[in-house]
Amino acid sequence: MPDTPIRHAVLLFAMQDEALPLIRRLELDDKGHLAPPMPMRWFDGRVADLRVDVVVLGSDRRFGVDCIGTQPAAIAAQLVFDKLKPDLLINAGTAGGFIQRGGSIGKVYLTGGPFYFHDRRIPLAPFEPYAEGGWTLSNNAAAWVDTLGLEQGVVSSGNSLDMNADDAERIERFAAHAKDMEAAAIAWVADQHQQPMIAVKAITDLVDGEHPTHEEFERNLHTASDALSEAVERLLRLLAA
Ligand code: ADE
Repeated sequence: MPDTPIRHAVLLFAMQDEALPLIRRLELDDKGHLAPPMPMRWFDGRVADLRVDVVVLGSDRRFGVDCIGTQPAAIAAQLVFDKLKPDLLINAGTAGGFIQRGGSIGKVYLTGGPFYFHDRRIPLAPFEPYAEGGWTLSNNAAAWVDTLGLEQGVVSSGNSLDMNADDAERIERFAAHAKDMEAAAIAWVADQHQQPMIAVKAITDLVDGEHPTHEEFERNLHTASDALSEAVERLLRLLAA
């Protein structure tokens, strides 16, 4: 994927609580809904000469909760490419990590891929690779990881917070470091547009640890989101330099 000079970055977050620390840190302006009637919210500002927009998936009209998951993420990515036309799309958020691959609470991964789906099972030969994906969408991520002292990792996405045996088999085969609910959906859209995309993911829970995922996620959401905002600000300052 050709990475062009970056003068404009868009950060795509699923949850408001994940995004707020960065929105406050960068003192971004609230621009309201990105594309009414869709729920995605839009904030903008600058980091030195870099134009920075944040898009958050927003609140579900019927259920009143954050629109986490792959279909709002894919629609948001399409709206971002259509309306904001960034030089780089960054999916920032939290994820489950894996002790067996060095994961720990609050650890931050920065990666240009591969981005996989672990819950799309289509055992029809030509559709299997399509179902799993495996997109790599930036050549620069490795250099940014080195400069920022973060870690590169494989991200695998699905629409459940928990993990069943089929998901686990795929996540093991992909050797994933981070399990989330958006990155691969965004990667698919970025690939259709032939645009670069990276993900920055902070770990809230250890999927192969001893604690129930939902309890660990709720306990660590704010700590991980603070670590995420700190890492993302350092990345934006590096891109702006
Ligand atoms: N986001 C944070 N933790 C997660 C997990 N374990 N699975 C999917 N998405 C997550």
